[in-house]
Amino acid sequence: MIRMPSSGGVLRAVGVVAVTGAVAASLAGHGANPHGETAFGPSAPAADTVSYKEDVLPIFQKRCAKCHGAKDEEGEVVAEVSLIVINYERLMMGSEFGPVITAGDPVDSWLLEMITEGDMPPEGEGDKVPEEEIAVIRQWIAEGAKNN
Ligand code: HEC
Repeated sequence: MIRMPSSGGVLRAVGVVAVTGAVAASLAGHGANPHGETAFGPSAPAADTVSYKEDVLPIFQKRCAKCHGAKDEEGEVVAEVSLIVINYERLMMGSEFGPVITAGDPVDSWLLEMITEGDMPPEGEGDKVPEEEIAVIRQWIAEGAKNN
């Protein structure tokens, strides 16, 4: 009967220590980066949402379309390995080998790997995709590769 409340007291004391530790840690976090919460707050991702039509499509039009979706002089659509990147539905269907975009997963998206490695556009067929454009495509995929 005497030990029960005593051990309860010990548990409560431990709880207080843990809470105090958490508060101290979060205060230390604020001290280290006072603007962290606003920079990465809930409103930031919404404001930065990448659009397929507005942001991604122009990159593909400029760098990829001549081999993956544009028409040649005879009016025939050019689709190397059956991949068309300037039409959302076709892009998500992938190439004759399978999907090239995994919505929400940039690391698993073959298209992103190809442009990051400098394999697309092929050597001598255009400049390597600049890092800031790769970042746009990466973010679009991370946000779910939406038809937006
Ligand atoms: C000059 C023509 C040309 C251009 C420009 C080009 N591609 Fe390709 N692409 C090809 C050819 C040919 C292949 C198939 C052979 C290979 O993989 O090298 C291919 C293959 C691919 C594949 C692999 C498909 C698979 O399932 O293996 C992806 C992804 C791809 N291209 C994306 C792009 C993107 C994105 C761009 C623009 C940044 C681009 N390509 C620009 C000709 C081109």
